[in-house]
Amino acid sequence: MMKEIKKILLIGADGQLGSDLKKVIGESYELLCPLIEELDVTQFDKVKEYIRQNRPDLIINTAAFHQTDECEKDSPRSFLVNTFAVKNLADVCKELDIPLVNISTDYIFGLDGERKTPYIEQDLPAPVNIYGISKLSGEYCIRYTLKKYFIIRPAALFGIAGARGKGGNFVETMLKLAKERGKVKVKNDEFTTPTYTKELAESIVRLIKTDKYGVYHITSQGECSWHEFAQKIFELTNTKVSCQPVSSDEFPTIAKRPCYSVLDNKHLREIGLDKMSYWGDALKKYLKEKGHI
Ligand SMILES: NC(=O)c1ccc[n+]([C@@H]2O[C@H](COP(=O)([O-])OP(=O)(O)OC[C@H]3O[C@@H](n4cnc5c(N)ncnc54)[C@H](OP(=O)(O)O)[C@@H]3O)[C@@H](O)[C@H]2O)c1
Repeated sequence: MMKEIKKILLIGADGQLGSDLKKVIGESYELLCPLIEELDVTQFDKVKEYIRQNRPDLIINTAAFHQTDECEKDSPRSFLVNTFAVKNLADVCKELDIPLVNISTDYIFGLDGERKTPYIEQDLPAPVNIYGISKLSGEYCIRYTLKKYFIIRPAALFGIAGARGKGGNFVETMLKLAKERGKVKVKNDEFTTPTYTKELAESIVRLIKTDKYGVYHITSQGECSWHEFAQKIFELTNTKVSCQPVSSDEFPTIAKRPCYSVLDNKHLREIGLDKMSYWGDALKKYLKEKGHI
């Protein structure tokens, strides 16, 4: 029988997704939200000690080293935060027999450059950069160690708090650039599904009320290029700007990005819990809540 969840440890509660999770979870559960100074996932022994002392019934880990280019430059840190720290959490979850929710990424896919159809959970991962490899290794550590886990793969997150690790989100960056320059160039050859962290947080909370453990793709519905995403932001906010589509060759980066990393929420749909909106509708909701429209 599933053990009742009363107390949840949320790691990364000040982050973009973490802030929304904090709000949604706080409505129905007792919540532990240590700051990074109190609980740094890379301090393995301290993490175990904290968890043994505080005895949560479930752990949600949103902490990550996710600046994709920085990960390429510092692969030891990528594996420390995204893989070994996750293995450490999985070990202590096993010891206490509690579930672990870990946030992964769409970037565990992408090596198949010809792909034009959304990935399902059963598709074989093949990352194109160190970030994706280290996150995928974290996934494997969990699957190897635990039976009770939720591995969540979202994509292209935007949320009210903005990504701390990335200094904001794409929506705010586009609006800022439009205001400052009156014109922007945006890649039109990389496809994803922009996903609102508030809706993602609500989905995660619905999921942890079940014992349907496993890997879940959780993104908004539909797909678009980053250029189409930008156009939609400008259209909905009535922003006058020249938005030029360009090839990703115009923006050389240290790390490769997948050309196509669109995910299908197949598993979530199968258990009747796919309540995610179409990405344009979720964007509209965000823009309203953020006061842009
Ligand atoms: N952003 C995206 O587009 C995207 C897309 C797909 C998947 N994801 C995944 O989604 C998750 C959440 O992303 P997000 O956008 O919410 O990121 P975020 O805003 O950067 O939040 C990450 C949080 O983790 C904390 N953290 C970082 N290193 C830590 C450590 N060593 N110990 C404890 N806490 C630590 C950060 O604290 P400080 O800020 O104080 O360092 C921050 O509060 C990540 O796992 C990411 O890989 C993100």
